[in-house]
Amino acid sequence: MVMIQMSLDHSAEQAHCRRTAALAVELGRRAGVAAPPLVRAALLHHSLEPLSHASGLDRLAWHVVGGDDARRIADIVQVCNLVDEQLEALEFEYKEVEIILQEIQSFPAFEGFDPALVEHLREMRCQQFPGELELPVETGAARLVFRTLREPRDYEVRELEAVALRDPVLTGSLLGVANSALYGRGRAVSSVGRAIAAIGVIAARKVMLASAMRPLFASAGLASIWSHSLSSAPLCAALGSHTGLLSSEEGLVLGLVHDIGAVALQFLPRETLVTHRNLVEGGCPAAYVERLLLGRDHGEIGAGLIAGWHFPKEFIEAVRFHHQPERCSSKLASLAYLAEFWSGRDEDLPSFGRVDACLARVGLAIETLMDMGSQDSTLRALKAVA
Ligand SMILES: [Fe+2]
Ligand SMILES: [Fe+2]
Ligand SMILES: [Fe+2]
Repeated sequence: MVMIQMSLDHSAEQAHCRRTAALAVELGRRAGVAAPPLVRAALLHHSLEPLSHASGLDRLAWHVVGGDDARRIADIVQVCNLVDEQLEALEFEYKEVEIILQEIQSFPAFEGFDPALVEHLREMRCQQFPGELELPVETGAARLVFRTLREPRDYEVRELEAVALRDPVLTGSLLGVANSALYGRGRAVSSVGRAIAAIGVIAARKVMLASAMRPLFASAGLASIWSHSLSSAPLCAALGSHTGLLSSEEGLVLGLVHDIGAVALQFLPRETLVTHRNLVEGGCPAAYVERLLLGRDHGEIGAGLIAGWHFPKEFIEAVRFHHQPERCSSKLASLAYLAEFWSGRDEDLPSFGRVDACLARVGLAIETLMDMGSQDSTLRALKAVA
């Protein structure tokens, strides 16, 4: 047990050092300091010296770099170290990033530091990301399907058919799934009505809900989020019906839309996109980077988007806070957090405290969560034909 705790602590510390290094490289780029010594100092800043005071980092920087740049490198690493610690602490006390940047300057560890370093961190942040977002991609099918098929009730073939015939994406998906290895056992189906009858209205509604989202995730950079959404949907459905918080149909919808805010990120200004990519590639989780650069994560952005699609308020809150469920009273946000956690996509800093709190909030044992699968044969068939 002690060994496990030690290795968990060690890997958390390593992850912190990697994030500090990624931040230091970005800050250094703006402060005119080369990356390699910053990376070395950041990765070693817990290994060679006691951390929390500046003189320790100064000595570390002398040790790994030497020369005139040592003090500057120590300062950059220390600023990034403080920022990462504060971002890690958001689960205990939420603060705006601007408040964090102001507060760290009053920390004893910041004494004697150049305030311009904090200014460089501010320069990294995106100034032009709009408060209200309209996606500049085709959302017609998604709006149509979520408006007409979101309700958990019995649908008739002709109702689904009427919706499917209004969009070629929906038509193609239904025909593709009906003729797939899962369902296509006789002659090929070539009409939408027959396709729905062949796979059944429950599966057909699933296919339509999921395939309506597909065009939004069409760009190459979003393929993994699309695949993750298809895995999260059955997880949310299972969690929803097990806890009694949602019908499995509603859970499916929540899983499909929970990360829709990530679609908006591809429309960030180019400079912000580059910084975003560098930090993620450097080991910072996506939601952490979004909070740092935009002041909000893809949950908040997605909530704004589905609000425009007239989703119920509790769904909007669940999407908004699915990475920070402690910031709201919605049990659905905790449910979405657990689905996010159990899907294993690592979109945010890991937090066993949040997992525990969410399990308690929705009344679920960890063993039950561990038994939940993310496989749905109809959605798998859709993935194969899309
Ligand atoms: Fe540190
Ligand atoms: Fe997410
Ligand atoms: Fe997610």
